[in-house]
Amino acid sequence: MSKFPSEKPVLVTCGLPYANGKAHVGHLRTYVPADIFTRSLKKTGQEVTFVCGSDTHGTPIVFNAEELKTTPTEIIKVYHKHFDETFKKMGVMFDAFGTTDDPTNHNRTTEIVSKLIENGYVYPKTIEVAYCPSCDRSLPDRYVKGTCPHCKKEARGDECDQGCGKHLEPGELEHPTCTTCNGPAEYKEQEHFFFKLSQFKDFLLEYLEGLGGTLNARNYALGWVKQELTDWCITRSLEWGIKFPGHEDLVVYVWVDAPIGYIAFTEEWAEANNESWEKFWKDDGSIIHFIGGDIIYHHCIFWPAMLKGAGYNQPDAVVASGMVKIEDRTFSKSRGYVVWVDEDYLDHGFHQDLLRYYLASYTSHTKELNFSWKVFQDKVNTELVGVFGNFLYRTLLFTHKNFGEIPEGEVKQDILDEINTTIENAKGAMENYEFKKYADTVMALASYGNTYFQSNEPWKLIKENKEACGEIVKNCAQITKALCLLFEPILPEKMEEAWKQIGMETDVHETNYMEATELVKSGITLEKPSILFEKIEDEKTEEMEAISAARVKEAIAKENGTEEVEEVKEIEEMKDLITFDDFSKMDIRIGTIVSAEAIKKSKKLLKLQVDLGEEETRQIVAGLKESHEPEQLIGKQVAVLTNLAPAKLCGVESNGMVLAGVDAADNAILLQPEKETNPGTCIH
Ligand code: 2FM
Ligand code: ZN
Repeated sequence: MSKFPSEKPVLVTCGLPYANGKAHVGHLRTYVPADIFTRSLKKTGQEVTFVCGSDTHGTPIVFNAEELKTTPTEIIKVYHKHFDETFKKMGVMFDAFGTTDDPTNHNRTTEIVSKLIENGYVYPKTIEVAYCPSCDRSLPDRYVKGTCPHCKKEARGDECDQGCGKHLEPGELEHPTCTTCNGPAEYKEQEHFFFKLSQFKDFLLEYLEGLGGTLNARNYALGWVKQELTDWCITRSLEWGIKFPGHEDLVVYVWVDAPIGYIAFTEEWAEANNESWEKFWKDDGSIIHFIGGDIIYHHCIFWPAMLKGAGYNQPDAVVASGMVKIEDRTFSKSRGYVVWVDEDYLDHGFHQDLLRYYLASYTSHTKELNFSWKVFQDKVNTELVGVFGNFLYRTLLFTHKNFGEIPEGEVKQDILDEINTTIENAKGAMENYEFKKYADTVMALASYGNTYFQSNEPWKLIKENKEACGEIVKNCAQITKALCLLFEPILPEKMEEAWKQIGMETDVHETNYMEATELVKSGITLEKPSILFEKIEDEKTEEMEAISAARVKEAIAKENGTEEVEEVKEIEEMKDLITFDDFSKMDIRIGTIVSAEAIKKSKKLLKLQVDLGEEETRQIVAGLKESHEPEQLIGKQVAVLTNLAPAKLCGVESNGMVLAGVDAADNAILLQPEKETNPGTCIH
């Protein structure tokens, strides 16, 4: 019995990307299969809604904003837009794509956390949290690094990211160090709030036994719950985030408000479509989460317990994808082993559907995927061009040339049986989240079509018996129609084209699998087809391999260096156009540096006093230490952005920004006036 279509509406979600960096192929390993799944479900007649959005809170974003001397709001604006656009370019079509900083999510998070408090699942506790005496601030999550208490590898505050992968609670890290100034951190007492996760052990054991999705998610989570379940600290002392109810100095931990985003985005979709969000979260709809394998703990343990405690439905299935490697190295944005979706793929003219096919069909969803340009090329050339493309083009061209339309003829039962069997097997594979099996099953129908065409030799038959030849051609058209529908979830844009090529006027995206066996109509005019899939030449693969190799080499060289420059460039390239009014908001003036001294704890920063005229001297912290000797700077005139919000860098107050460029060797190049002028002179 097929699971889909079911009476219950289905909600599909994808793990939210942090709006803190660009989309890479590692992201797509989750989003593309989720999109394929959603499209396929629609084709069974299932009612399905697909939501996602940007994860905008947490220390990585605040940390990045500080490094780039900007605000979290600016960063999330850039990357939210980037993800939204990139997903569309890759054919990943969400029904709603919000952000966790939307008021809807603030409200829903406040409601859920208040409900957990009201239900007695939250309690205060004084704990030791890392604190940096030199920067004079608490160090939540990414602001602190040290040794993992479990596996003794280097880890960051909330996660053993380089070792055992465990979630770490505040205060657990051994030998804490401040990630901003690299100085030793101390532990200091602070009151925080805890969620009584330990009370949910029995619930989770039973819930996980019945959890659908991939086995890796269920089994990992069961293993963890059986071992131990400690209460969970759900507050952080940060400015950026969603306030913990009743405590203005605390925000909720990002892993509280991020998954609540799934509910908020459903609400936003419901609002825009005059629909109900409760049908999934309160009534009897199904919820299916697609996530990366590294966030199973959060989705299978924290999240269902939180939902249960606040009186919401829990997910029915969690589908966790395997890791991605690039040319045998673990995919890591921070290390630089990465294939960017835009600059390394789309910008090279590759079509979205080729990568979608590769990701779906390369290996099973839960296994590691080693991204390789060579394998990508082989799969495109052998399967998409050699098998499917070949069948499509040769049959359509033959029909166009010899008949100009779909001819009369009986569609044979064995052809219809073959199509029906393929649909059943493909649907079965999809229900079990076996995307490779789905792709292989459909490709086997294309192979069958090639064999059918080849063995019936229509090019001979046309000379001897046009009517018999017409029948072969008509059967090929039926197989083509079925292939368009079956491949649409994986190759949506190409199948839109193919659907038109066989003379269909309906929308292929909205057409059910069942129509694959509805007989194609004779007499439909066929235009000359165009080739849908082109071979990737060896030179192109070599070019792409060289780009990846250079990136890996650069990453190795930088292993102990800094990512900052790269990140700055990244955000500069992506800046939006601004209006003159936006520009006028900046108060840029000429200043004269009157003193400069190194900040001991920092590799890069100098503390400057800058004369801005009218008896105003400003203290500004500038990243000039690696390129300038402090003495050299004294007396120099520079351009200063004077109305930048004050910030503390390495514990030192900074009131403005000295403008500079960065040359190819990463040296800061100061922006100076053409000739000496009065300090305070405005720049327009
Ligand atoms: O690990 C991550 O990339 C997170 N931004 C995923 C959040 S998923 C959800 F729970 F919101
Ligand atoms: Zn560890």
